[in-house]
Amino acid sequence: MKSSYTREFNFTKYLEKVCDAETILYTGRVSGVKGLEIESEGPRSVIGEICTIKLPDGKTIKAEVVGLDGIKVRLTAFGETKGIEVGCEVIASGATLQVPVGMSLLGRTIDATGEAIDGLGEISPETYYPAIEVSPDPMRKAPVNKRITTGVRAIDSLLTVGKGQRIGIFAGSGVGKSTLLSMIARNTDADINVIGLIGERGREVLDFIDRDLGKEGLKRSVVVVATGDKPAICRVRAAYVCTAIAEYFRDQGKDVVLMMDNVTRFAKAQQEIGLSNGELPGNGGYPPSVFDMLPKLMERTGTNEKGSITAFYNVLVDSDDMNEPITDAVRGILDGHIVLSRQLAQAYHYPAIDVLASISRLSKRVSGKITQTAAGKIRTWMATYRDNSTMITAGIYQKGNSASIDEAIDKHDEIEDFLKQEEFDPCPMKETLDKMAALTGMEIPEEEYSESPALNRPTTAQIVDAQKKVPEPEDF
Ligand SMILES: Nc1ncnc2c1ncn2[C@@H]1O[C@H](COP(=O)(O)OP(=O)(O)OP(=O)(O)O)[C@@H](O)[C@H]1O
Ligand SMILES: [Mg+2]
Repeated sequence: MKSSYTREFNFTKYLEKVCDAETILYTGRVSGVKGLEIESEGPRSVIGEICTIKLPDGKTIKAEVVGLDGIKVRLTAFGETKGIEVGCEVIASGATLQVPVGMSLLGRTIDATGEAIDGLGEISPETYYPAIEVSPDPMRKAPVNKRITTGVRAIDSLLTVGKGQRIGIFAGSGVGKSTLLSMIARNTDADINVIGLIGERGREVLDFIDRDLGKEGLKRSVVVVATGDKPAICRVRAAYVCTAIAEYFRDQGKDVVLMMDNVTRFAKAQQEIGLSNGELPGNGGYPPSVFDMLPKLMERTGTNEKGSITAFYNVLVDSDDMNEPITDAVRGILDGHIVLSRQLAQAYHYPAIDVLASISRLSKRVSGKITQTAAGKIRTWMATYRDNSTMITAGIYQKGNSASIDEAIDKHDEIEDFLKQEEFDPCPMKETLDKMAALTGMEIPEEEYSESPALNRPTTAQIVDAQKKVPEPEDF
């Protein structure tokens, strides 16, 4: 019979797959178990590789290679090690952790291995992204020149954030970090939220999904969870998994907001792994691997040539000490920090943002000239009031002695009202700018209400491309 198919068939892509296929299964045997740490002889593997351990009852446990020493392989399990015995087979997968990604992730809650935990069935991925990835090529990064709306007045006015900016939210325990994140998740104008809940309590996770995010918020969000009772490797990997998911959506051209609550628990989990793997404790008791991983993780967010990831990283500041090592390291990596103050929270001033101690390094690039002047005016009044607050509250200051202090006192209550905001009371950007104009008596021009009021600067890549281009002769 003559085939109706006349064109030559192209086998190249199939051949490539077959040539690359791993035909040898590398296996090893468990030689010891200590808590979640497993030691085995073999298999041939690399650090970060995922292995499967076969239990005598037929069940399997996933584990990751965290140390190599001759033929000895140290693994850490993603779940309980109950049932493992000496001699169990360890099979190397040949791959590091891959995260299932796709549009179907929206509205779903997954764990650190990428499996759904919301009882809504399996997720059918479009493709897989590696959990551990390098940061985008700095030459191909689009500039941050669009403003993101967080819906939080104090941030949008005085600490304006750009799409693709990376910000840390620093505070001691119970000062309102998670509440602030949930306000941003509900009200931001970004396309998609990816939220990593790392080391939180189980109750907080349910509260966050049901109460804080709500049905509408969840629809455009993906939540990655590794609660505090999960093994350290799960808490570390959850941070990578949510970053990989954000990267996938960024590659689809979306403006993504990535939120991590919180980075300190990620660092503590890596501390556990590092120390049990023989690393020596360094700064603040943290092994060097912690300070190596933090910048690598955080450099992955930001812009690339397709979309943006605006990242908010919550940092739990131990004993409210802003110089403790994790706080210090994270502050140096990011493009800005929002500091929450216990004093403000105690006075029921929510969100408890200490504006004068906070900074958004890119705010000038994403807000108009007049808006910047208005923000500067408010900051000056606040600083003047703070510097003289002892005199003012003790009644020592006499009105009329200084025009600037008089003005700061006059504006104080109005500024407080402007900065306070109820949790479920969103504030669109237009309302924030209107209120700012009224507070400062300045008129903010129409064009400064747009998403990119500052200059549209060309990207570094565009400049390089323009320089490379040789002008073509027009006529011959
Ligand atoms: N905007 C707000 N309006 C009213 N109350 C708030 C607001 N933000 C925080 N709170 C109060 O502060 C409490 C602690 O907030 P939250 O759980 O967000 O703090 P946290 O810094 O995340 O704490 P932890 O360190 O334990 O994770 C809340 O239970 C709530 O009572
Ligand atoms: Mg919290």
